[in-house]
Amino acid sequence: MNKFHTDPLIYPLNLSLNVMDMEKMTRFYRDSMGFEILEKKDDVVHLGTSGRRILTLERPENVIQKPPRRSGLYHFAILLPDRKHLGSFINHLRDNNVPLTGGADHEVSEALYLQDPEDNGIEVYADVPDSQWEWDGDQVLMGTDPLDFRGLMELGRDLDWTGMPEGTKLGHMHLHVGDLEEAFSYYRRIGFKRVAQMAGSANFISTGGYHHHIGLNVWNGKGAKAAPENATGLRYYTLAAPDGEAQKKIFEELKQGNYKAEIEDGVLFTEDPSGNRIRIIIA
Ligand SMILES: [Fe+2]
Repeated sequence: MNKFHTDPLIYPLNLSLNVMDMEKMTRFYRDSMGFEILEKKDDVVHLGTSGRRILTLERPENVIQKPPRRSGLYHFAILLPDRKHLGSFINHLRDNNVPLTGGADHEVSEALYLQDPEDNGIEVYADVPDSQWEWDGDQVLMGTDPLDFRGLMELGRDLDWTGMPEGTKLGHMHLHVGDLEEAFSYYRRIGFKRVAQMAGSANFISTGGYHHHIGLNVWNGKGAKAAPENATGLRYYTLAAPDGEAQKKIFEELKQGNYKAEIEDGVLFTEDPSGNRIRIIIA
């Protein structure tokens, strides 16, 4: 099922984290998470699967620990091709004593949650086929039910975990913002629609009828501000636009709304009103 992370939609493609301990973080993402190192130079490491970059680790000069209660990353979510791979991943984590922080059946997806060594949130999930998602008008129904760990682990037993499989993607981003309405006014200009909400505390937005490409919440406090640029945590994330025309249209929309936006060497650099930095590239 690839229709929600492909042309002509706008969708998350990859992200970059500022890190403090490059060696420890690289080891975690390679050995525990199963990403392949695609490129490594100086203080930058690109990781992904099947040659496709999903995550970049960068060590800024004078890096500092991210301060609490800021905007930024709540979690990034890795989408596996199916639930069999999710089961195999659970077995791999258990065999290697990698702790989970939780798991949930969201009805549209089945998800696991963990934290990396520098306290960035990670979700690893598999989608339920979209034909089974329930919609109430333009709002998709998502719940938080217990995850069928036993069933998934059983299913995953047929599959040896040899790392993140081909077809693994950055499925969605979930961000802390300072204000939901302010954030949505911005993301609407990029083309996102609101498809679910948790009263006054979170919004879920997408293009093309996905259950969400981006989650936005105010769980770090209303008015939460961005961390300093040299702090650990989210450095930026990338959205894919189908072509130059779509990218230019987004640029004009953002300019019209008086948001930061600049196109340089084919990349649209912008940031949401809470200071989450975004690059919009042509996929
Ligand atoms: Fe999520």
